[in-house]
Amino acid sequence: MAFREYKIGVRMFAFALGSSMIITLYFPSVDMASVQATEYALKRQLAYGRIGGFSYEDPLLKGWGKPVTVTLDKDPVTGKPIEPTEAYVYPPGTPFPSGITHPRILGEGVEDLSVSVGRISEANKENGAVFIIREGEFQGQTVAYIENATATRGWQAQTTLAAVSDDARQYVGSGKIMFVREGCWWCHTLLPEQTQDWQYFGAPPMLGDFNGESPTAFGSDRKAPDLLHVASRNSSREWMKLHFFNPRLVQPHSIMPRYDYLWGEVDAEGNKIDYDRWRAEYDEYVEGKRVYPPEVPEPHPDSEARKLIDFMMFLK
Ligand code: HEC
Repeated sequence: MAFREYKIGVRMFAFALGSSMIITLYFPSVDMASVQATEYALKRQLAYGRIGGFSYEDPLLKGWGKPVTVTLDKDPVTGKPIEPTEAYVYPPGTPFPSGITHPRILGEGVEDLSVSVGRISEANKENGAVFIIREGEFQGQTVAYIENATATRGWQAQTTLAAVSDDARQYVGSGKIMFVREGCWWCHTLLPEQTQDWQYFGAPPMLGDFNGESPTAFGSDRKAPDLLHVASRNSSREWMKLHFFNPRLVQPHSIMPRYDYLWGEVDAEGNKIDYDRWRAEYDEYVEGKRVYPPEVPEPHPDSEARKLIDFMMFLK
């Protein structure tokens, strides 16, 4: 008798757990998949790559296995001038974001055009790919969709990367990893709210702005300015450089930590950065023994500082 009641209990428990999982995980995913991805969502997922955070390609959160955003002003194959175009270059082996591997989540119209005209299903991770964002007509409506330029125009990842100078490359995807790893979200949000917030921080996001992005890094508790549109109000790389090296250089009472270690060992010219000397000179400046603070080194093109600044500049 007692055993029979135990079996009933197990079934009731399994039923309760199963149905609560369906309600919490499955129903919202069906709902989200029916939302049409905005152009902003396409940009984001293509610039960030598959996932931001712990993953097989990047277990130490170094920003490995991420795409490179490039600005093209000529066709990388023919060399003919084109309208300045942002392209998202996935070198061979770089995992694609979920919009490419599961086009269903792009929503009606965006999925149809991306697959039929944009040929995204032909993209192959082993060979790499280059994506761009285009606009098209779907049932009388204008929608943004993804084009696999490797299939449609023959733009190979390596040739496209080689066709642009370092200034035209932005390591947005790796920079977002720096943002996640350094815990910037502990103080900053990436989510202006539907309040008077938007007078200063810019418009709140719309439904469909986040399809395919993972994680969204909204942040929860705000102790510092929202950064979702930070580059719209401050697009100075020079300011970012000073502020990340030591926020007190530009905001005397800032509580933001310094991130000088993201510069690494050497500066842009390959000279070793002498942090001890820099701090000693900075202390003299604070004590009034020097008129100017010491100069902030120019970040090396491969440094984490450069990638973080690239990510900031992407947040428009
Ligand atoms: C301890 C909290 C804290 C942390 C952690 C922090 N910040 Fe800040 N941040 C602030 C505060 C406070 C300000 C406003 C004062 C200032 O400009 O320094 C600020 C300002 C900024 C600004 C200028 C915002 C504007 O409106 O112009 C940027 C950009 C920024 N932080 C980026 C970052 C990034 C990227 C990280 C992680 C690498 C980070 N912050 C980590 C507290 C923080």
